[in-house]
Amino acid sequence: MIDFKNEIAKLLSTKIEQLDHEEVLDMIEIPPKSEMGDFAFPCFKLAKVFRKAPNLIAQDIVEAIGKTELFEKLEVVGAYINFTVNKEVFAKSVIEEINKKGDKFGSSNIGEGKNVIVEFSSPNIAKPFHIGHIRTTVIGSSINNIYKFLGYNTIAINHLGDYGTQFGKLIVAFRSWGDREVVESNPIPELLKLYIKFHEEAEKDPKLDDEARMWFKKLEDGDEEATELWQWIRDVSLKEFNRVYDMLGIKFDSFAGESFYSDKMPRVLELMREKGILKKSQGAEIVDLEPYGMPPALITKKDGSTLYITRDIAAAIYRKEHYDFYKNIYVVGSQQNLHFKQWIKIIDLMGFDWAYDCVHVPFGMVSLEEGTMSTRKGRVVFLEDVLNKAVEKTKEIISEKSPDLEDKDKVAKEVGIGAVVFQELSNNRIKDYVFSWDRTLDFQGESGPYVQYTHARASSLLRKTKLNYNEDVDYKLLKEKEEMDLIRILNRFPETVIDAARKNEPSIITRYTIDLAQAFNKFYHDYPILVDDEKLQKSRLALVAAVKQTIKNGLALIGVAAPERM
Ligand code: ARG
Repeated sequence: MIDFKNEIAKLLSTKIEQLDHEEVLDMIEIPPKSEMGDFAFPCFKLAKVFRKAPNLIAQDIVEAIGKTELFEKLEVVGAYINFTVNKEVFAKSVIEEINKKGDKFGSSNIGEGKNVIVEFSSPNIAKPFHIGHIRTTVIGSSINNIYKFLGYNTIAINHLGDYGTQFGKLIVAFRSWGDREVVESNPIPELLKLYIKFHEEAEKDPKLDDEARMWFKKLEDGDEEATELWQWIRDVSLKEFNRVYDMLGIKFDSFAGESFYSDKMPRVLELMREKGILKKSQGAEIVDLEPYGMPPALITKKDGSTLYITRDIAAAIYRKEHYDFYKNIYVVGSQQNLHFKQWIKIIDLMGFDWAYDCVHVPFGMVSLEEGTMSTRKGRVVFLEDVLNKAVEKTKEIISEKSPDLEDKDKVAKEVGIGAVVFQELSNNRIKDYVFSWDRTLDFQGESGPYVQYTHARASSLLRKTKLNYNEDVDYKLLKEKEEMDLIRILNRFPETVIDAARKNEPSIITRYTIDLAQAFNKFYHDYPILVDDEKLQKSRLALVAAVKQTIKNGLALIGVAAPERM
């Protein structure tokens, strides 16, 4: 693909001695309206150097450049030089690249040789996998896809919450009131019941809390009964989570959760002591973070047991040693901002120069219309229910609108689940939002199904032709404004992917697919495609094929399928 911006920089840097290639690149802008051209170069800055009015400088430069093959027009408007690309060269360069690269269009090798860890989802064992988990799960998975697409070697880690005092509580509850068969018949809801009962009983009898702490300590010390119960709870929970991951088509490279680090803790504590950053405080050990404007971090409790934060420190060190990461990304809610700031600072204080390669990617909270979600109070919406309902609703729509569709069930899954995921990834991740069944099941407007439908529409056009739109295409014929607008959007895809990675923001891709689908539908409504004029038909179909491919690639990055028919 021709990088026109780069070509402009080449042209200008040879004509303007005072500016080098990089400086020119930085100065090039995109005009606010496409009628004004494709790129603009402001000459204000040059006025001082040349002691001349910027518009005159612009004129001189345009004259010096003269005629070029790549641009059909160079125009001085005020202090700007506006560049309009040669439409045929542009169309050919973009469309051929897409149709040649196929599923790889937009990918890159900028990440080659670099390991990026993306930690996401990380639910707590024995707790329901609810709508609050969907964000970390789909945002994280998408970030993982995006980095992989850019050539990074990614490692998707699920840092399961499979350790901590809550396991002491569960063990106590199970030993007091639990029944293995009952739990196995319906694991998470039954474990949840036990967990809730523990809290009710502990309010009446605080001794239960001591007992729970004791059982967790037993677990840490490798007690046989505690370990066996813990393992069993972990297994049945993971089976449940995996069902949801399968529905979403999400895979992990590692399930090394909190428990994985239990035997790595002593060495980490030793390192911290060597660095002199651990302080005794009423029998516990802390790191004082006051000089950095943060509350102290509790590292070990009075009884010597470790905490969530201790495990995060151990995990980061292990990951650096094991994966030698270039970036270690954590997709975790913004409620944990302080937690991440604290432990990353501690890594820094321990003298590790890679501390700030650990990146917390926060996102806003999901609440319910009736208030914040509360596992203890049983106020939860299960993620699996949401996905199932979306699939059910899609089935109804399909039987009504396209009863003859092949593979109805498969398409219903792709569209129903795609709708939920797409919705989740359409807003800036940092925004809080209130979950609503109506909105989640509303497929109108700028939704996943809309984009998927556009893809299916393009696929159907391509099925209907006998012409080979990959050969002898006359790109000159693509000259309508709507066609050019579409090609411009297609051209933006590779940089959009890079932008999404830089900002760890999948919604940039989601928005992009909407822009592309809208521009395509405008073109589709305004211009006939399967026209009798074969040359024209071929050129338009080449464009259609490029749009279809790019929508598919974009959707793949956010984890949404692109069915051929729907
Ligand atoms: N299990 C935690 C929770 O559900 C999230 C873990 C986040 N990751 C981490 N490395 N601390 O709140």
